[in-house]
Amino acid sequence: MLRALYPGRHRRFPVYTRNFDDEGAIVAEQAHGPIPGREYLAPTDSGMSRGQFLTAASIGVGGIMGALIAAPVAGMALGPVFGGEKFEPVVLGKLDEFKDGEFVKVVLHPHGDKPDAYVRKKVAFVRRNKDAKDDSLALDGQEEFSVVSNVCMHLGCPVQASNTGFVCPCHGGSYNKDGARQAGPPVRPLDRYKWEKRGDELWATDIYALKNDGGKATHRDPGQHTSGLESWFYPLQP
Ligand code: FES
Repeated sequence: MLRALYPGRHRRFPVYTRNFDDEGAIVAEQAHGPIPGREYLAPTDSGMSRGQFLTAASIGVGGIMGALIAAPVAGMALGPVFGGEKFEPVVLGKLDEFKDGEFVKVVLHPHGDKPDAYVRKKVAFVRRNKDAKDDSLALDGQEEFSVVSNVCMHLGCPVQASNTGFVCPCHGGSYNKDGARQAGPPVRPLDRYKWEKRGDELWATDIYALKNDGGKATHRDPGQHTSGLESWFYPLQP
């Protein structure tokens, strides 16, 4: 009795015709080529064995997983280069409001025409410097005024000016009179505003971060290093 036809798991020839007795034992088996009238799928229809399919699927799944892991890391590394809203120049005050060696607290209102202008406001401390050497972190051409952001470079709390510099009420971070980090958890100096004179007014035209030695750095968020190995490996810290 013809009980089964085995075209082969991978649809290769020969196929087998088997005869079984009443108890199900094989009594005859014959290998042969395609049977006329029966449809077979040739091995080349898919072009891929099960092993090849599993290998390709593993590589595909691995690639997708890798992309999902790498995308946020790449975004974090490249975000500061491409992202961020353009700084809109904003007036700091009249030139004669700022005194030698004395910080004046100024509230900046960039994007004042936008409905969310209130939450965009920023605070800066502005000091006029008698001598170029009075500001150890000043960039070339920026020595006359020090315009220092009040955002702590640990987690972003607002710092307060003190007799010796700036202190942060949140975790005790402290900075010297130029905003260089002195103690506590902040990772870099306070950010600076680039300034320029427009008539009898002082304007902030950009914001930038500083490296620990005073050089200009790409603007980053609080807690992000701008100097040393940590600046390359953030958020990992060797
Ligand atoms: S936020 Fe300023 S020390 Fe933590």
